[in-house]
Amino acid sequence: MNKQIILLPGDGIGREIMDSAKVVLQAVAHEYGHSFTFHQHAIGGDAIDQYGTPLPEETIQACQNADAILLGAVGGPKWDQVAVHLRPERGLLGIRKTLGLFANLRPVKGFQALLHASPIKEEIIQDSDILIIRELTGGLYFGQPSERRDNGNAVVDTLSYTREEMERIIDKAFESARIRNKHLTSVDKANVLESSRLWREVVEEKAKDYPDVTVEHMLVDACAMKLITNPSAFDVIVTENLFGDILSDEASVLTGSLGMLPSASVRSDGVGLYEPVHGTAPDIAGKGIANPLGMILSAALMLRFSFGMEEEASEIEKAVNECLEQGYHTADLRIKDGIQVGTKEMTDKVLENLTAKSISDSICNT
Ligand code: NAD
Ligand code: IPM
Ligand code: MN
Repeated sequence: MNKQIILLPGDGIGREIMDSAKVVLQAVAHEYGHSFTFHQHAIGGDAIDQYGTPLPEETIQACQNADAILLGAVGGPKWDQVAVHLRPERGLLGIRKTLGLFANLRPVKGFQALLHASPIKEEIIQDSDILIIRELTGGLYFGQPSERRDNGNAVVDTLSYTREEMERIIDKAFESARIRNKHLTSVDKANVLESSRLWREVVEEKAKDYPDVTVEHMLVDACAMKLITNPSAFDVIVTENLFGDILSDEASVLTGSLGMLPSASVRSDGVGLYEPVHGTAPDIAGKGIANPLGMILSAALMLRFSFGMEEEASEIEKAVNECLEQGYHTADLRIKDGIQVGTKEMTDKVLENLTAKSISDSICNT
């Protein structure tokens, strides 16, 4: 299969881990006879430096014509002082909105080899397997009016949603629950927010169309607590934009590191943008120690969701698992008896395991 893939490395460690995803995809293409063509474009601080804007028109055009997009991360202290509408993060929000990527899927499933890398007790995280579905193009992130500061002393951030925006993400969540363990937790703040009360109504209405899925409503504060005290009680979580942002970083603790979490931002027709959940990690950027696995696993999600390449995606996931089983890990994972490696070495280990698998397959097939 011939696919055009846009690479948006962005800033900080985003630039360091993008190469990891690219070489892994090239190895998969080689093994399976696919042809992936990569086109790199600027976004975030990188784009501000080159074009004076965090989301150049040529980047938008390229993304609109692509089969899928991979993004590293954007932002960093270098751009902290730029005008609000020029912040690097505006580039990311802009591309999500322009492409209509309303559903952000954040799977949180730890690898067995990393059970002891989490600060949470092993017996608590043992059986956890959660899919967080975050609404991505509405809510506080896109509040109007956009002029939010009045004389410096009064501010406004607006949380608005339409019923239609709620319906499509809630449908997506029910559909996902249906092909998983058939349990949906809808997370809101309905004891305070009107938007949450409409959200609950929509969930109740939609529940009638999915009688095979059990539904529960949970307030976001209680959810934050339950995620780390009883994570195996969750299957699919659906929630609005900001709650989903916060809960997914929290849930990453179950896997041992924020650097492990992949994500897929999709719309109904399969077009998608794939990015790790973490940011540009200014504290470690430039040191060559960033964990590339969240990025590599995001590339696997791209193969699965945008290209329908299930086997290729699981080959990557198996290769990652093998590396971890062999004890390799980056510095963000708190592991006592492992082999600590940098970004490049970790990527090489994933490649070695991919290649080892293809060699053993070809021996079996002869
Ligand atoms: P962060 O996710 O960049 O980092 C939080 C902590 O996790 C840091 O200690 C960092 O070193 C560590 N970490 C994150 N990813 C890692 C990895 N792959 N390997 C090893 N360690 C990793 O969050 P932050 O520091 O709050 O934000 C920094 C910048 O990133 C901000 O400008 C923020 O807006 C931006 N950001 C961008 C995205 C994105 O582009 N998708 C996501 C989150 C934050
Ligand atoms: C994420 C990030 C972004 C978000 C920021 C950088 C705008 O934290 O992708 O989780 O909040 O959506
Ligand atoms: Mn976030």
